[in-house]
Amino acid sequence: MKALAINGSARKNGNTAALLKSALEGSASVGAETSLVHLYDLNYRGCTGCVACKLLGGSSFGSCAQRDDLTQILEQAKNADVLFLGSPMYFNDVTGQLRGFFERFLFPAITYTKERVILYPKRVSVGLCFTSNAPGSFYTDFYERLKNTFTHIIGPAEYVEASETWQFDDYSKYAADMFDVEARLKRHLEVFPEDCKKAYEMGRRLASAQ
Ligand SMILES: Cc1cc2nc3c(=O)[nH]c(=O)nc-3n(C[C@H](O)[C@H](O)[C@H](O)COP(=O)(O)O)c2cc1C
Repeated sequence: MKALAINGSARKNGNTAALLKSALEGSASVGAETSLVHLYDLNYRGCTGCVACKLLGGSSFGSCAQRDDLTQILEQAKNADVLFLGSPMYFNDVTGQLRGFFERFLFPAITYTKERVILYPKRVSVGLCFTSNAPGSFYTDFYERLKNTFTHIIGPAEYVEASETWQFDDYSKYAADMFDVEARLKRHLEVFPEDCKKAYEMGRRLASAQ
């Protein structure tokens, strides 16, 4: 059983990566074979709207026709049993890199037919991992929307979030005095490990259900 995590943050040891690694550890604890991909290591573009994935009888029907570093990752994601997707919030959305992945992963799966059809061969359980500066409730609608999109197209989805995260190694060195640094540090030391535990539990639950 395969669990794949896709990191949409450029920071390989940042908050998002920590949630994803915890989720993978949870899956590994029940026997999953795990792997982690950092999208910022890859060279690719988002969907170009070529619509080759919708061409009836075409060689790329139901899959992305672009050939680049993402091609193999898209195949791995389709064939995983459990898929974790992580992103920091960047201007009230996922990062551009993860957005590009979403376009290339989600669009070839669907058709514009009257009858609803999903072209991917199997359902994949999805665990979304989000991190933000903003407090917890701020992005609930956004997270729920993405969860529903993935449930609809890819497979049963759930999410964990870590909010008011630790962003700078030393806040005093940066133009960032709007933050209550002591409260942030306390949260980083006390709440963030709990968020990671939630990610671990999610990883274990999704892999156990396979
Ligand atoms: C370019 C940029 C844009 C950001 N925009 C937001 C935002 O809109 N809302 C928010 O809550 N945090 C925002 N943040 C903060 C990050 O989401 C937060 O620090 C996150 O935990 C970083 O995750 P990482 O350590 O995995 O990179 C932004 C950070 C950057 C660098």
